This record gives sequence, structure tokens and C-alpha cells, in this order.
Amino acid sequence: MLSAKDNDLVTQIEGNAPCGNLLRSYWHPLALTEELTASRAAKAVKIMGEELVLFRDDEGQYGLIDRHCPHRGADLCFGRLEDGGIRCPFHGWLFNVDGICLEQPAEPRESNFRKKIKIKSYPCQEINGIIFTYMGPGKAPALPHFDCFVAPETHSFAFKGYLECNWLQAVEVGIDPSHASFLHRYLKDHDPEYGLQFGGMSGDSEVTMTSVLRNHVCPDIKVEENEFGMRLITTRQMNRESMHVRVTNLVFPNLIVIPMTNDICISQWHVPIDDKHSWWYAIFTAFDDEIDKEAMRNQRLELYSLPDYRPRINKTTNYGYDPEEQRTTTFTGMGMDINVHDQWAVESPGHIYDRSKEHLGTADKGIITYRRSLIKAINGLIEGKPVPFLFQGEAGSKLRGPVAIDTTADIHSWNDDWKSQDKNKREHSTWAKGAGT
Ligand code: FES
Ligand SMILES: [Fe+2]
Repeated sequence: MLSAKDNDLVTQIEGNAPCGNLLRSYWHPLALTEELTASRAAKAVKIMGEELVLFRDDEGQYGLIDRHCPHRGADLCFGRLEDGGIRCPFHGWLFNVDGICLEQPAEPRESNFRKKIKIKSYPCQEINGIIFTYMGPGKAPALPHFDCFVAPETHSFAFKGYLECNWLQAVEVGIDPSHASFLHRYLKDHDPEYGLQFGGMSGDSEVTMTSVLRNHVCPDIKVEENEFGMRLITTRQMNRESMHVRVTNLVFPNLIVIPMTNDICISQWHVPIDDKHSWWYAIFTAFDDEIDKEAMRNQRLELYSLPDYRPRINKTTNYGYDPEEQRTTTFTGMGMDINVHDQWAVESPGHIYDRSKEHLGTADKGIITYRRSLIKAINGLIEGKPVPFLFQGEAGSKLRGPVAIDTTADIHSWNDDWKSQDKNKREHSTWAKGAGT
């Protein structure tokens, strides 16, 4: 439970809100690369409550600037992409990716008025299908050498989706390992399909993941705070010999790294659009085989409509709820796709859940630990202390992983087994040599 004051502190990001200022100290996904097409490389975007324009200039550099022209406020997302920047169609003022006004063609030739004009701008960089931005003060921090950032493009796939809720609600479902036994429960075993992250067999065992989750509803959850945020090690004792082990991560402040299959892990950010809406952005990273991007994209296009990346099954369709299915097939009655289940779970408490009404238990220890560090970081920033978990220079380049694994291990040696399984996976990979963190 949080006080109403602390609930506001951790959820509000617009304007000069302290949590927004904290989040701005880190890089965040801003758009998928595919959103800037060859025919139109400019797009209106909203992040942290700010209305901005993302564009690619004629040299291929990304710019993120204020959406409204500083001359007389026209909407720059209709700008002309030419002459090394974006040109306002109203009177032709031209801005480059750094927000510098290069031309004011209607002003007298001898005027230096343009030198007094600077439009707000933020740096961008593109990695594996996502354009990231840094909206904080001073020099941007380095990105750690995590798998999703260093994997080759052939082994990466990126996508995004819209959530009608505050960013923190979405983060908190990713550090809540016990929900999988309920929210994502299938009453009978079945063949895995897309979206069935918990389908298939458990590790090398003969047991299905579906039954592991269904039959072991009270896992042991270990939370380890570490150099990038925290790791959760969730274990379910399957029988006298075997332990199911799932290792997931929270990279502070809003990145979840989880396993999807034995070979693919998901790095998923929850980025505020404003206080009441957020995007999830994900990079799927494969260690062994190249990713079939077209197949993965087509699977997602069945579930999400473009250009808004909104889920087709959502609040307006009652999340596809079917009471007969709930009685016979799934715990939720909301179909077989776990993304729909999660969508309902994060949106149904309302746009901004009032955490003064909640009752957290032992199984919520990941959420409790994370919130403590979030509140500490926000209050620290208010008091002028350094922002935690920023990677500068050497420290960032040494970080690997984080390890995300879902496996079945020996009951006695499971805590070494998952590490050696991860090491093995990296040794067989063409690009991920070296130990994971
Ligand atoms: S409003 Fe943009 S140039 Fe005049
Ligand atoms: Fe989930």
C-alpha cells in the first residue's frame, strides 16, 4: 500500500513532476524504425506528456524537436524534409536535428534573428528496430552492453503496443511472477501457439509448462537487488527430483527482461505517453537461429492494428471475455493469448490505480522492492543526489545479459544449473560469447 501522496509521486510524469524528471535521466524507446517510412520520414510523437516531432533528415540523422514552430506555432509534423532539416510550411523556417534554426527566408538577408531562435530538441539513436531518445539534462548516459543492444539485426525483432494505463501499472505486472499460475492458466494442456509464452515443455522435462504453472501456484520468489536493478528467481518444486526455475529481470527504471523460449528473450520497456497512457516496446533477441521477422510481424499484426499499434482485442471488446471459455478452457475466459490477459490485468484497475487501496502480500515482494528503490531515487533526485543505475563508460560496457531463463533443473543443483545453461547458450551463439550478468 502507498499513501495517496506517494502514489502520485511514482505515477505522475507530466510537466515538472519529480518521477518524470527521474525517468528523463534514462534512454527510452520513442518509435519503431518502421514508423518513419521512406516516403514520409516525419511523425508526431508524444512521450512524457510532451508533443514532439520525430524526423529523419536528408543525411539519415534522427531529430526530435518541439511539435510547434517557435515562429507562430504551426504544426511541424507537416514540415518539409529538405536542406538538412525540417522546414515549416507556414513561412519556411528551417530547423536541423539539434533544434538550430538554419533559415528564415522571409527575413531580410542581413538579419541575424535566426541565431536567437532555438527549438527544443532531444538526441536520438536507433538500435535493432527502435529509435531511442534521451530527454534528460546534460550528457546522455551510455547504454549498457545488454543482449538486446548488442545482438545483430538478424537476431532481433522489435514491436510495440498501446496500453490505456499509467506506465507503472504495466511495469508492475512484469515483476509479479505468481500471476502466471492464474492469469495465464490453461485448464487443459494444448499445443503451443503464438502468445503462449507458457506453452510447450518445461525445459528438457516431459512436463508441460501449462501443468507446472497450474499445479504449482505458490512459487518461491527470490528478489536480488543488483547493479542494474533487480533479478527475480522464481522456483516451483515439480517433484522430488526437479525444480522449475524462471529467472527474470527489472532494469531500472522501466525495462523488463524475460525469457520467451529456450532461444529467445524479450526486453520490454514501458514508456509513459502521458500520466494515463503508455507504450510497451519490445526487442525479441535470439541467441542461436536468426529471427524470422516477417513471421513475427505478421503474428502481431493479427493482434494489433496499424498505424496506432492498438490491440484489436481491448476494453471496448470486453477483452473477448467468454464465460463458457472461462468455465472450460482458460482461467480468464479471454482467449489463449497471454498478451490479452496482461492487457486486461494492467488496464482494468483504471488509468492510474489508487495504490492506497491495495493490499500487497508476500508474493508481491518484487513490486515492494522495486517501489522502494523507485521512491528512494525520486526523493534522492529532489534532494539533489545522483540518479541511480546510470551506466557511464566502462561500467556500462562491462554489463552483459541480463540472464533470462526458464528451465527445469535438478532439485539439489538448480541454482548452479540455470547459470551453466545460460553459459552454454551463449557459447553456442555466434554473437553472445562471454558470461551473462
Ligand atoms: S509558423 Fe513556422 S515559419 Fe511561421
Ligand atoms: Fe503476464
